[in-house]
Amino acid sequence: MTAPILRRLSDLRALHSEWRREGARIGLVPTMGALHEGHLSLVAAAKAACDRVIVTIFVNPKQFNNAEDLAKYPRTELADAEKLAPYGVDAIYVPDPDQIYPEGYATTVSVTGLTDVMEGEFRPGHFDGVATVVAKLFLQSGADEAFFGEKDYQQLMVVTRMARDLDIPITVHGCATVREASGLAMSSRNMRLSPEALGKAGQLYPVLRELADQLQAGGRFDDILPAAKARLSEEGFGELEYLDLRCGETLAPLERADRPARLLVAVWLDGIRLIDNIAVDPV
Ligand code: PAF
Repeated sequence: MTAPILRRLSDLRALHSEWRREGARIGLVPTMGALHEGHLSLVAAAKAACDRVIVTIFVNPKQFNNAEDLAKYPRTELADAEKLAPYGVDAIYVPDPDQIYPEGYATTVSVTGLTDVMEGEFRPGHFDGVATVVAKLFLQSGADEAFFGEKDYQQLMVVTRMARDLDIPITVHGCATVREASGLAMSSRNMRLSPEALGKAGQLYPVLRELADQLQAGGRFDDILPAAKARLSEEGFGELEYLDLRCGETLAPLERADRPARLLVAVWLDGIRLIDNIAVDPV
């Protein structure tokens, strides 16, 4: 059975009060729709941990720094509701835009430091948009637990810090990236890749894995980076925005994997911007 679709905050609040009376633990999975296996794994994690689960679908204009990207973002509400049906989700919140940004809306939530690099550098304003909408979704839903994919690792760190700094009583969980058989991280943007580009995109993960193996063997990042960059360009990737080794907690740049670390990448392919990351265990 498909879950009820709520478009008004007052309806979400009414449901929330009912669930609180039952003593239910409420889980939240924020999404922008165009659901794939990655999102569904978050829903499964939320269902396993919580009594009631809300999935939100809202294509948040404030986090797009490129008008074309916003216009082309896939909107597939009916198909999304059908994909959620087998999971027994309790509500799908698809807020009308004025429920998130009413007339005269003037507040921005901005996390400093963590947002200065990588996505923050290449997508100015993106994380202000993310932190603002996620803060609103946390507060509107009153959820106890929220589930995010590690695919957007920097986003996961930003929303975790935002909730902590603002004393929002919610536990943020990061869930493992779900990958295609090729290793390509699942993403709603993959739908826009041509079949040929999809084939090439599958080469991104092996490049990250090889770098991780070299780091594990004690390699210095600056020494092994040039060959990885050359391989990406041989495989047909376009502009490489960043390919960084960073501390898994603070996102500070690292020379070696001498503490829990993360390799993170953003690269263009066929007009689509791909991001990915993997953990590197300390040597
Ligand atoms: O990861 C996403 O889909 C979005 O950034 C999020 C967290 C739903 C906020 O709009």
